[in-house]
Amino acid sequence: MSTLSVCVQKRTDEAEGICGFELVAEDGMPLPPFTAGAHIDVHVSPGLVRQYSLCNDPAERNRYKIAVLREPQSRGGSVYMHAQIQEGQRLTIGTPRNHFSLVPARRSLLLAGGIGITPILAMARTLHAQGDSFEMHYCGRSAARMAFRDELAAAPFAHAVHVHTDDGAADQRLDAAQLLASPEAGTHLYVCGPSGFMDHVLATARTCGWPEAQLHREYFAAAPVDTSGDGTFEVQLARTGTRCNVPAGKTILEVLLAHGVDLPFSCESGVCGTCLTSVLEGTPDHRDSYLTEVERAAGTQFLPCCSRSKSSVLVLDL
Ligand code: FES
Repeated sequence: MSTLSVCVQKRTDEAEGICGFELVAEDGMPLPPFTAGAHIDVHVSPGLVRQYSLCNDPAERNRYKIAVLREPQSRGGSVYMHAQIQEGQRLTIGTPRNHFSLVPARRSLLLAGGIGITPILAMARTLHAQGDSFEMHYCGRSAARMAFRDELAAAPFAHAVHVHTDDGAADQRLDAAQLLASPEAGTHLYVCGPSGFMDHVLATARTCGWPEAQLHREYFAAAPVDTSGDGTFEVQLARTGTRCNVPAGKTILEVLLAHGVDLPFSCESGVCGTCLTSVLEGTPDHRDSYLTEVERAAGTQFLPCCSRSKSSVLVLDL
């Protein structure tokens, strides 16, 4: 995967617990283009790679902007970013990738929870620039913890933005059931934020009859998984015939790497999609937050960094 050397041009306090980092190319050249919804891998420190969505205008080529919520309970990436990354510092990043793209639609409904505003903000900028119809709902625990509120209030699309806070009056809180009550053929829903928020929005949309093809989402963190019933199974590599046992307590990715398989990976938690692998035979036990319900049901691809197997053997296109 190609990487870039960038410099932190500006560090900003965006909200309580949220820092913004503006990254420019070290050689001063234009950065590779990106589309709304894209993220970059940030090589935070040796062996620690984290994904952050780009929130600036995708038309800009001179900078990438990310915003990082400090999450002390997480695996250390955001804490390190907040404590160690300062203006003028060099960073290695991956080129932008997008698994959360806008699709052409008559109307787009953008729902952000907390730090999930980052890709949603880039989407709003693109939709506005294209003259497309959209509406944004931005939910947070309190105004002080919500990044980009001033920027949104001053944006040329401010009329399309609705802010909802948990600690505000009851009548301004998001009523997902009401908002999503009447799915329309040409309307696509995009949701990003904490798992609980996303699960609530997506479950409500499904209950209201939204087709899966009109639901788009990006998780930032893996959902907790019960591993108490995990057993041993076998993985077979179709191209070499190699067979490996995957015991409980080890991921397929770990076993493959131990067998010398050169499989790209990044988050190791089923969020980023980097380790996506084709399945030729067997039934994956999907545990990621990346594939759509339709992709999961097809059973032809899975994420070996976190998913396992329901069948005794899983044959992979490796
Ligand atoms: Fe990120 Fe597997 S490494 S989904």
